[in-house]
Amino acid sequence: MPLVNVKPLSEVPQGAVIEVEANGATYAVCNVDGELHCVDGTCPHAGGPLGQGTLHGNHLVCPLHGFGFDCRTGLNDDDEDMTVQTYRVEVQDGNVLIDVP
Ligand code: FES
Repeated sequence: MPLVNVKPLSEVPQGAVIEVEANGATYAVCNVDGELHCVDGTCPHAGGPLGQGTLHGNHLVCPLHGFGFDCRTGLNDDDEDMTVQTYRVEVQDGNVLIDVP
């Protein structure tokens, strides 16, 4: 998949989650202690915007109903059938690039 430049790294500080768009889809990019992770931006429960959620360590919480996902693996806290897709992230020249379809 092609890498898409979505944001300057300076706009994704440690402990933050941001919503980004790439190729017509929405993604959530999380900065966990300086390590970047990317997951689908749409919650599999009822379509909540995960990129507008809150991040607690590696734990991304959906703003609509509070379901939580590990942003490193995409796994839901309680339901192994409810996962979000994860995507590779690279930093190049101070920019965040995500590897998405
Ligand atoms: S839409 Fe995300 S928890 Fe309901």
